[in-house]
Amino acid sequence: KEIKIFSPATVANVACGFDVLGFCLDTIGDEMVIRKTEKKGITITKIEGYDLPFEAENNVAGVSALAMYNDLQPDCGFEIEIYKHIKPGSGIGSSSASAVGSVFGINELLGKPLDKTKLTFYAMKGEALASKCEHADNLAPAIFGGFTLVKSVNPLLVLELPTPLDLYATLIHPQIEVKTSEARAILPKEIPLSNAITQWANVGSLVHALHTSDYDLIKESLHDVVIEPYRKQLIPHFDEVKNSVLEVGALGCAISGSGPSIFALSKGETTAKAVQSAMQNVYSKTDIKFETYVSKIN
Ligand code: HSE
Repeated sequence: KEIKIFSPATVANVACGFDVLGFCLDTIGDEMVIRKTEKKGITITKIEGYDLPFEAENNVAGVSALAMYNDLQPDCGFEIEIYKHIKPGSGIGSSSASAVGSVFGINELLGKPLDKTKLTFYAMKGEALASKCEHADNLAPAIFGGFTLVKSVNPLLVLELPTPLDLYATLIHPQIEVKTSEARAILPKEIPLSNAITQWANVGSLVHALHTSDYDLIKESLHDVVIEPYRKQLIPHFDEVKNSVLEVGALGCAISGSGPSIFALSKGETTAKAVQSAMQNVYSKTDIKFETYVSKIN
């Protein structure tokens, strides 16, 4: 018995919600095949797309699968094939897609013994291998879909947030690598109270705006005064991209996860495509290769 799955890319943080907010990009993602075997254990039999370790204990998908497997102790084993489309270090949840795909697939093959929160819990074990800490802001939207807020990781509590009908994401992925662990290492351990007040007001108002489909309030809320000032230095032309997409009508623009991808949210596909052109214009003038995507958020 085997299952072929699509494991989606995701945007973590969503400007103001560092480590808690995220949304799913269901048009971009990895493919994986999970196969039930008589031989016990977790074996990675194929990896295409990027050069990643085959040993389960050194592979993000393997680590999350092993964590789940060791707890459930099923009377069988699993083979995993990974067809990686999301570039590692791109800032759109590459490691999360791997971590989620294996646990999701195994759960399906076992007859769904675990709920989505429990799957997120095991996926966190794989994600920790890549980012050196346990956070679930990419994992939760990959598993639940749409927007999610990770209320806490211990105990793990994920809230599903509604998505306004006409909300689109546009992304640009400059082909440079930013390692999540390094992008975390440059952050200050403490922040001024005034910045904290601005940030939590924005998180609260963004959540309210999603519930009420208030696009003006989404626009008012998509600001990051805590993380962006430090991380934007790792992303060439960040300010230029941000200014030019706001000029053509984006609701907001920020770093996707730990970067280097940059995302913008827009009301309607027409604006989202204008935002895509604005992003392309900035990077076309440079030597840096890039890819752009437009995705409706569901
Ligand atoms: N919240 C995480 C970060 C997402 O920004 O470091 C990247 O894994």
